[in-house]
Amino acid sequence: MKALVYGGPGIKSWIDVPDPVIQNPTDVIVRLDTTTICGTDLHILKGDVPAVTPGRILGHEGVGKITEVGSSVTNLKVGDRVIISCIKSCGSCANCKMGLYSHCLGDEGASGIGWVFGHLIDGTQAEYVRVPYAENSLYKLPASVTDEEGLMLSDIFPTGFEIGVQYGGVKPGDVVAVIGAGPVGLAAIATAGLYGAAKIIAIDLDLNRLEKSREFGATDTVLSGTATWKAEVMAMTDGAGVDVSIEAVGVPTTFTMATEIVRPGGHVANVGVHGKEVPLHLESLWIQNIFISMGLVNTNTTPMLLKLIESKKLPAHKMVTHRFTFDQFMEAYDTFGRAAETKALKVAIAR
Ligand SMILES: NC(=O)c1ccc[n+]([C@@H]2O[C@H](COP(=O)([O-])OP(=O)(O)OC[C@H]3O[C@@H](n4cnc5c(N)ncnc54)[C@H](O)[C@@H]3O)[C@@H](O)[C@H]2O)c1
Ligand SMILES: [Zn+2]
Ligand SMILES: [Zn+2]
Repeated sequence: MKALVYGGPGIKSWIDVPDPVIQNPTDVIVRLDTTTICGTDLHILKGDVPAVTPGRILGHEGVGKITEVGSSVTNLKVGDRVIISCIKSCGSCANCKMGLYSHCLGDEGASGIGWVFGHLIDGTQAEYVRVPYAENSLYKLPASVTDEEGLMLSDIFPTGFEIGVQYGGVKPGDVVAVIGAGPVGLAAIATAGLYGAAKIIAIDLDLNRLEKSREFGATDTVLSGTATWKAEVMAMTDGAGVDVSIEAVGVPTTFTMATEIVRPGGHVANVGVHGKEVPLHLESLWIQNIFISMGLVNTNTTPMLLKLIESKKLPAHKMVTHRFTFDQFMEAYDTFGRAAETKALKVAIAR
């Protein structure tokens, strides 16, 4: 088969590799119909994730059909159309039983690490992929949900919802600010509405993304990086700050911004992946009675989010801005890698 193989920092190629085979009775093999690229793949290609070693097939999102099932798999069969979750979950370890799939103790990839695809085991940017713990890590896709909609449930929508909205404790009437209107921030914006947020303020440096955020449910937008950004946000509240600020960028500045606009008693939900040391100003924050949360997505809300997509309550289809075929993989990376110029959000790469 063909797959997108990491060759070390800055090196990737769409080349022939051996087909994956069943290794454990709980595995299945999926023939990918549609896959995509995540910002994390760009980090890996910069060499920021040293655990990814040359020869690894990248990708942790995808939709496809099952071509082979392991001997102990009973609730899935050949031909089933499935969403591949970005997080492995054995379903039986202590962490999985708490819904903390992100820390699944199953030893596939590494015990305690849920994100293994395209990281510690071969991923989904390929014609076929081996899925461990398939019964608990795959979700059957109803016929009424398109591949592209299903693809947004591998990572983006569960991440924005679980780590942004749920951990942020959004409740009816809240003013919610989302810093960073990339795919993850937009997913947080779209799902904050589910809990009846009164205002959802999108904050970004990119005017195109701010415009896009309104299609996902942002009621207000603020251009970041200006002298007045904070005053503009505060004016959208009762003066005390937002109830929930969600950080969906992953740099020190935006985490600090999130802590500066939250009201006393409010929540700061950090979603961004940070590669650099981030200051936490406890000397001024300790007195604010705020909650700060963070974490890796569990993807245990996937079945619920899937129902909402099926009933057209979430605009997942609006996330895909560019479409490619497998033989255009390198072009897809180029377009996604220049998102500010190309206005790409998610690229769908289909067979
Ligand atoms: N916690 C998790 O489980 C998890 C899972 C997936 C992704 N993530 C992380 O979520 C973050 C967002 O992912 P994405 O795919 O949407 O990324 P992205 O790069 O597409 O979007 C980030 C957005 O932030 C904006 N931005 C940059 N600097 C800014 C600033 N100073 N002020 C305001 N906006 C600014 C950019 O213009 C961009 O629109 C990343 O850090 C990603 O690694 C976390
Ligand atoms: Zn991802
Ligand atoms: Zn587990």
